[in-house]
Parts: sequence; structure tokens; C-alpha cells
Amino acid sequence: MKRLSIFIAAMLISLGMFAQTADIVPSPVSVVKKDGVFKISDNTKVLFKITNETEKEFSELAKDILKSAAGITPEFVAPTTQKEGNILIQLNNPLDTKIGNEGYTLSIQNDRVFLNANTTAGLFYGVQSIWQLLTSTDGTTLPCMDVTDYPRFGWRGLHLDVSRHFMPVEFIYKYIDYLALHKMNVFHWHLVDDQGWRIEIKKYPKLTEVGAWRADREDLDWKSRNEPVKENEPKYGGFYTQEEVKDIVEYARKKHVTVIPEIEMPAHVMSALAAYPEYSCTGEYKPVPPGKVWPNTHIFCAGKDETFNFLEDVLTEVMGLFPSTYIHIGGDEATKTEWEKCELCQKRMTDEGLKDEHELQAYFIKRIEKFLNKNGRHLIGWDEILEGGLDPTATIMSWRGSKPGIEAAQAGHDVVMSPASHCYFDYYQGNPSLEPQAFGGNITLKKVYSYEPVPEELSADEAKHIIGAQANIWTEYMPNGRHVEYMIMPRMSALSEVLWSPKDAKDWGDFSKRMESQYKRFDKLGVNYATSAFQVTAKPELNPENKTIKVSLSTEAWNPDIYYTTDGSEPTAQSKKYTEPFIICKSQSVKAVVIKDGKQKSQSLGTDFFIHKAVACKVDQKYPNSKSYESTGEYALVNGIKGSKDHHDGNWKGFNGKDLVATIDLGESQSFSKVSTGVLQNNGAWIFYPTHVTVEVSEDGENFKKLGTVKNKVSANDGDLQIQDLVLNKKAKARYVRVTAAHLTSCPKNHAGAGYPGWLFVDEIIIE
Ligand code: ACM
Ligand code: ZN
Repeated sequence: MKRLSIFIAAMLISLGMFAQTADIVPSPVSVVKKDGVFKISDNTKVLFKITNETEKEFSELAKDILKSAAGITPEFVAPTTQKEGNILIQLNNPLDTKIGNEGYTLSIQNDRVFLNANTTAGLFYGVQSIWQLLTSTDGTTLPCMDVTDYPRFGWRGLHLDVSRHFMPVEFIYKYIDYLALHKMNVFHWHLVDDQGWRIEIKKYPKLTEVGAWRADREDLDWKSRNEPVKENEPKYGGFYTQEEVKDIVEYARKKHVTVIPEIEMPAHVMSALAAYPEYSCTGEYKPVPPGKVWPNTHIFCAGKDETFNFLEDVLTEVMGLFPSTYIHIGGDEATKTEWEKCELCQKRMTDEGLKDEHELQAYFIKRIEKFLNKNGRHLIGWDEILEGGLDPTATIMSWRGSKPGIEAAQAGHDVVMSPASHCYFDYYQGNPSLEPQAFGGNITLKKVYSYEPVPEELSADEAKHIIGAQANIWTEYMPNGRHVEYMIMPRMSALSEVLWSPKDAKDWGDFSKRMESQYKRFDKLGVNYATSAFQVTAKPELNPENKTIKVSLSTEAWNPDIYYTTDGSEPTAQSKKYTEPFIICKSQSVKAVVIKDGKQKSQSLGTDFFIHKAVACKVDQKYPNSKSYESTGEYALVNGIKGSKDHHDGNWKGFNGKDLVATIDLGESQSFSKVSTGVLQNNGAWIFYPTHVTVEVSEDGENFKKLGTVKNKVSANDGDLQIQDLVLNKKAKARYVRVTAAHLTSCPKNHAGAGYPGWLFVDEIIIE
């Protein structure tokens, strides 16, 4: 029996059934490791035949890449018969059909290295892999292996909003380098939004003279900047000249990155309308807003032909600068109240037989699409462009979850997935109390890695319409490139693997191990990356028998050395090292950190455990909470841990459009004097405090009497992320305590969700 299993294992290994990986991110399709190493010596040469400009460009880039990794820089020479000791780089002839347009094969042997591809893009990616392998060693050693590699998706993108904060040209170059490093190939450049027009258009100079500059309110929070603009006050902004754009596009092309410009329409264009108010419905001048705009009502007039002439002129110049097949025209979040009131827009609807303003938006988009198609380009837009009808020739970027992408693919559109749930890198990536201010949400490294771009709902044929995915980086809370770096790194490493590596080869454990090397590469490149994956999370396991809590500590880092304290002091390498879950039987604070090579890898996060009368008691809920915000099982509301300001921290129970009505069975009649209910408000995430909390008590669980009510005093419009305890101080004795937290029945007026029910988040109910 034993022999047989050894035999089977040997067979599986020889068949390559146990996947091997190399120290490369994104992980290659196939790796077969061999004994030995190839050493780059002073005599090593790179043999590569240059017959045209593209090959010359590649060789120059490859030289730079190898130089930045290796202790020794091998000289590039024309191929000779001398193969031993050298690196042979070659374009395939005939083509290797398995690896496609972007793949490569790499064979590292003791005495030589072969890198082959069908295109210089493939060779470029092969050199990126060699660079990674060299940076994992002494810079001159390559471990022997055979690699076959090619991407899963053709669109492997990263977006950047340069309107909310202008990013200098030097940073854009760096951004393209980061894409290339990750074998990503689309840079979606969000050049236009309300708060700044960022691209020079020669025919309309005011777009940048006026539209690129806003009142400097950088000292205020994004959401509270809408004070009137004064004459001649300091301005914040910037724009890219056409020469700068051309250079960037050309730089990206050499690195096999396509730059796709986004020229927003019909909404998110207050910067354009500040320069040319005549293309709005009202014609009214409004300054470039310095901060949050919501809702987006001041938009292009769809009734004026002049608007379309203007946009066609702009797009003509844009197409002259960007050779990309795709032109992104935005299309998101247009509130059509001005269209409803505008005579010309209404006339257009009558003339064109359009039944509502959604159809008017569809008319707008289709008219622009025709123009782009006539010029040999292809329209892509945010998923709102599906509303009101659209020809299947347009490509959809699905951002409001995967659902619009599913519908679009089923209707025959190509789709790029970028759902806010996994791909919005403006969301927090760790515990908000340890992170710089972000838009909201929480998308950790592991969550990005868990993303699957092809929804299960699609048939195999429909799935072919999912051409890839991208992350979006909205910069309201990112004032400079350094901050953008922090938000994209390391999450783009996880995304690159989602997009490049085979679905079946995904392995979080192996990826997190390879991230150890990736962090070292980031250090080498001077990247300002986040260490949020090293933050320690404390998870409780409740024992209802003796009311104790077993605590386990974890991180998203590989094999972390966690040190912790339970006395409130800051942990150090001299503190207790975490080896297994431990028991807590009185209220105390657990603080934990990861220490590696003598260095603390992230700030310590304290978790306060409250041992109170309701801990681990049975809780009966009248209405179920949302499946997405379950918290940790049956004791979630009474598990001894209060939810933090991060509503995704795993402690909160979330209710959409429902009250919390929770009856706690204390097991026997008990005296207490305080019932406290923890609640959270995150206005941006549609989460609001309850209007009030009512506490009732009972001895039999049937007949309850009211103990008291606590009112919430904070406005639902208060945009600060916050938590509070609604506390009822009243002496009582009872076995059953019923807590009702009344949800806000509708998001407040002027809120994105006005008219829709808000969320209620509750944790923890403390009885003392
Ligand atoms: C978007 O986030 N408004 C596309
Ligand atoms: Zn109009």
C-alpha cells in the first residue's frame, strides 16, 4: 500500500500534477524546477538578434532591467555559436501557438539560459521574470528551471484619477513602470472630472486655463470644501501638455502598456463647464469645485448640437494623442435633473422619440460611439451606459458590482470587470484606525487575491466577453504620488496574479510567501508600500459554559512572528510570542504586532475584551442580519469585542432596511444597572446610526416591560466615520433583555441613497 502511494506520488510529480512555483509575481503558468543554478559571470553575454526598431527598443529596455538587478550587467551581442555560459534570447520562428502574443518560455540550465517568445512583449515579460529571480538571489544567480508562461486575460489594468488630485508627469512614468513590473498592460488615465480638467486641448484653451485650477482647499476634508471661491485666491491644480502626453504614451508603448484616456461625459464635467458654461443646460457659470460634488447635476446639455461639436473636437485631439483602440467616455453617475428642466433636452427627446432621460443618455452615448467608430476607435464606458439601451459594440466597465458586467456579457458586450467590492483601491486595505484616511470600505490584500473576474452565472460562451479586469484609484484622499503608491502596493501584486495566472493555480499561501520577496523588491525600488497585511487581528471563540473567550491571532502575512501583551502595554520582541490560541477570563486588552528581522512590521492593534453579563448568552434575533455582515456567528453581539470604526472588521452585524430586535437570555434572572448598545455611522457607505434604542425586560421571555429608551443625537448627514455606545443606565433584574435599535427608514435628503433604506450596524450589546 505504502509503495503504491509513493509510486502514485512519483507519477503525479512526473506528470507535473503537483504544481511547482517560482519566486515570481504573478505566478507563471508552469514551472518545473531543476537541480543547480546558472551563474552570471563577467563573461556572460546576452545573445539577441536585432533586425528592426522594435527589437532594438526591447534590447535597450532589457539591458536596463538586467542592470538594475544583477551584480554584473551582461553585454548584448548578436547571436554566435558560443552558447555555453550565455543567455540566449530569441523570437520564435515558427511561432509557439501555446504562449500567444504575450507569453514566453524560459529555460534556465546550468550552463546557459534560453528565453523565447513570439513577440517582444513576451520577451519583455520574460526579462521581468528573470529580474525577479535575480532580485531573490545575490543578483547573479538564477535557479535552474523550465518556465512556460502566458496571461489569462488580455486586459490587465490599473486606472488613475488625476482630476481629484493632479499627479506630476514623473509619477505617471513610475506608475507605468509598476504596471510593467506586474506584467499588467492597461493604464486607464482618468483625465477629466469635476475637480480638474487635466489634458491640454489646443482648440479649447480655457479647458486648462480655467478647468485645470480650483480654489485651494487642501487643508480641508474633501467632503467639506464647498465654500464659495473668492477672487484671486490661491489655486490648486495642473495639467499635462500634449507633448507630455505623447511622451508618456510612447514610454508606455515601449513597456507594452496601452494608455487609455478617459474623457468623462455627460457628467463629472464641472471643470469643463467652468471653462465653457455654454455647453451646460443652464449656461450658468459655476467654478471648478474644490471638493466633493454630489449629486452630479451640472452636466453637458444633450439638446445642443454645439455640445456634440465640442466633444467631437476634443475627442479628435485626444485620438491624435492616444493610439489606443479604446477611448473611455465615462458615462457614470449622471443625475438628469437639468435635462428634465431643459427645453432643448426635452425637444431632443421629442424629436428622437426618447421616452425618458435614460434614453437621452443612451442617445448621447450612441452618438459619441458612432463618431468614435467612424474614426476607427471603440467606445468603453462605466456600466451606467447600459441604461436606456446600447449597441453591443460598446464595451462596459462593470464597477457597481459584477451584476452589470453579467448583464452586459449576456447581452453580447465585452466587459472589463472592476467591481467596487474587490477592485477599488481607494478603499481601506487594513484596519481604518491604523490607516491613512481612505474613501471607506475595506479591501485587504487577501480580498483582492480572492477575486474571480469571471462570474459563475455566465456560460462558457458568455464568459468569453470578460476580457479582463482592473483596479480603480480615485484620488479624493490621495494628495500625491507617494500616497497613491501606498494604496496600490501591494494590492496590485495580488491583482496581477488574478489577471495573469491560471485560475486553478491560485494559492493564497504560496502567494503570501512570494510576497516576502516582492516586499524586498519594493524596498529595492524605494516603493512606499503598505504593510497592512502585517496587522494582527484577534478572533474570539466563546465558551458559553464558563464565559471565557479563546483568542486566536492572525495576519495576512506569511508565517508571521506575532508578539502580544494582555496588560495594555505595547508589545516588543521581549513580549510573549504567539504560538496558539489563549484563554481570556476577565476584561483585558490584547495588543499584538509582527516582528521580523528585529523590525516591527506594522503598528500594534489593541483589541479590548469585555467580560460582561451577556457574554456568550443565547441571542434571538427577530429579523436576520445581512449575510454579508454576519460577524462571528451566534454570539456576535455578545462576544466580548466591540466593533471598531471599520465596518468590515468582522464584529459588526449589518441590517439593511430593518431594525435590530435582539432578545438576550441571561440564563437566569440577574441584576444589572447598564445596557449599552454599540452602533456605527459611515455616511459614505450608507450606514447610519439608529434613531433610538429601546430596552425591555422579561422574566419569562413572553411578557416584556419597557425599561427605557436612548435617543441618538448625531445627524445622519454627519460624514465622519464614527462609533458610539447608546447607554441606558437603569437598575433592573430580569432573565431576558430585549434590545430594539430602530433603523433610519431612508437615507437622508441629498445623500446618494436618498429614498433608499440605509444600513444599521450594531455591536456589542453590553450588560453590566
Ligand atoms: C465610478 O466609481 N463612479 C465609476
Ligand atoms: Zn439641456
